[in-house]
Amino acid sequence: MCGIVGYIGKKPAVEMLINGLKALEYRGYDSAGLYISGEQCVRSIGGVDNLYKKLPKGISGTAGIAHTRWATHGKPSEENAHPHSSPSGSIFVVHNGIVENYIDLKNALEEQGSVFSSKTDSEVIAHLIEKQIKDGDTFEESVVNTLKIIKGSYGIAVMNTQEPEKIIAAQNGSPIVLGIGNDEYFIASDVSAIVKHTKTVLYVKDGECVVITPTSHNIFTINLKPLNRKTEEVVWNTEQVKKGGYKHFMLKEIMEAPEVLKNSARGRTLRETGDVKLGGLEEIADKLTHTKRIVIVGCGSAYYAGMLGKQYFEEIAGIPTEVEIASEYRYRTILQNKGTVVLAISQSGETADTLSCINEANNKGCLTIGVVNVVGSSIARAVDAGVYNHAGPEIGVASTKAFLSQLEVLLLIALYIGRKKNISSSEGKIIIDEINKLPQKITRVLAQNKKIERIAKKYAHSKNFLYIGRKYSYPIALEGALKLKEVSYIHAEGYGAGEMKHGPIAMIDESFPTIALIPSDSVYEKTFSNIEEIRARDGKVIAIATQGDKKISAIANDVLEIPQSLELIHPILTTVLLQLFAYHIGVHRGHNVDRPRNLAKSVTVE
Ligand code: M6R
Repeated sequence: MCGIVGYIGKKPAVEMLINGLKALEYRGYDSAGLYISGEQCVRSIGGVDNLYKKLPKGISGTAGIAHTRWATHGKPSEENAHPHSSPSGSIFVVHNGIVENYIDLKNALEEQGSVFSSKTDSEVIAHLIEKQIKDGDTFEESVVNTLKIIKGSYGIAVMNTQEPEKIIAAQNGSPIVLGIGNDEYFIASDVSAIVKHTKTVLYVKDGECVVITPTSHNIFTINLKPLNRKTEEVVWNTEQVKKGGYKHFMLKEIMEAPEVLKNSARGRTLRETGDVKLGGLEEIADKLTHTKRIVIVGCGSAYYAGMLGKQYFEEIAGIPTEVEIASEYRYRTILQNKGTVVLAISQSGETADTLSCINEANNKGCLTIGVVNVVGSSIARAVDAGVYNHAGPEIGVASTKAFLSQLEVLLLIALYIGRKKNISSSEGKIIIDEINKLPQKITRVLAQNKKIERIAKKYAHSKNFLYIGRKYSYPIALEGALKLKEVSYIHAEGYGAGEMKHGPIAMIDESFPTIALIPSDSVYEKTFSNIEEIRARDGKVIAIATQGDKKISAIANDVLEIPQSLELIHPILTTVLLQLFAYHIGVHRGHNVDRPRNLAKSVTVE
């Protein structure tokens, strides 16, 4: 959680930092602050706009660090906002992550006379750095020696009033990227904050530190051993991180679905042979194909994507697969061994619980794989192999296009394995043809946007919703309910349609609408019966069905349609309808759907 930006160069730092923070607000937005070298430290509660309003005119310093916060230790307040300073005011620190031993460290420092001005875990870092300098360390030594004392995770950027033309940053579990421009350097939590200024970046790794000055950058280990790391060129452009004319990022990102599905599959399907080509899995292809067990881990929407992945892997790849909520899996007895493949799904690649499962699996000698959107993120770097989503930056806090691409990538991986096992070339071709038709079919689904908006308005006053689906549609029912909860704050429950009569049907009455996923598939009749049971109790039903299904129009109150396709493609098509439905209800109820209350985009705390 939280976002860091640092700038050092020839231009006024304020503008660079404020723009960078705006791009990072999706990481947290309850308070923000900045420190400009030689000038002042300003902090404010609320989003970056509030901070901007509070800045005095005429700040012209050309080096500084800034932070946007999502509170973990200490409530959102000005005192708890970053940067935090040392007792004498010589050290300024912005920090992402958690200092787990901060209470012990704080107690020890207080016994020595330190006075703390915040309730955060982060402030101890500034105090410790100043203490090390007083004890004779150089600035660099003071930072690395402090990092050796603190336990937990961090991405930090530090400035020292005694060396105003220097920023030191370091990473352990919370990402830091270095941006290299013309006579200017940047530090950020991710590239979206700096891509406007430079595309040349270096992803700092755990245990590494970087020092930037107006004319140089140096990277070294926490033991001060110099490193020679190569820079990379970022492919994202600035347009990708703007709203592109849409009212909200969420809508823009839903509407990007055709492009996203194209990009996630681009160059990965071989129509002639029915094969899938996944460069990121080539080296481990043999191990993966012969594994006896796959465990998928993820949180939130990623977990629901994993539920569908399980069905794909079992049916297409023929591999027994379990899917686990990462925050649960990591704390119970795990029977995994060298033969187990652990596959993490994560948009951000930074979700602490998912990362921890991967670290644990790596320790146990399992083969680890990532399905990750953010290139160079912590999970992407921790796994043995992986497949990037190529969905582009997702700014809306509620996952939409990334979730969609996760479904497609999981299908591609299943077919990749399946073709090496028991899926024939002609079977492969059939699936690939449908994957290739997805962008065009999803465009037809999105064309119902106005109709969805009308239906959403009609039901927007409801206090509860039930989402039901079976087989491939079951995980999508869960995801649909989550999406509605996130952006509309309406209570919604996702349920297996067949489970409904084992409990939830008790809630149904005319004020409790149900979204029923009923594409024309192998369980159509079963789901149809469940809808009849709801209608018999006066429950309203909004059905998501296949085009041309006359039977459903006769019984449901409202119908939204997907084009005909293979059964296993249906969930990809139905997903966007549910995303649009949630979007319109959220907007109609007056909520900021891009930044729902209490949420943050990447959950880097446990
Ligand atoms: O970045 P990740 O995919 O690892 O994030 C996992 C969840 O935190 C995320 O999917 C969350 O549930 C979203 N808010 C869903 O919209």
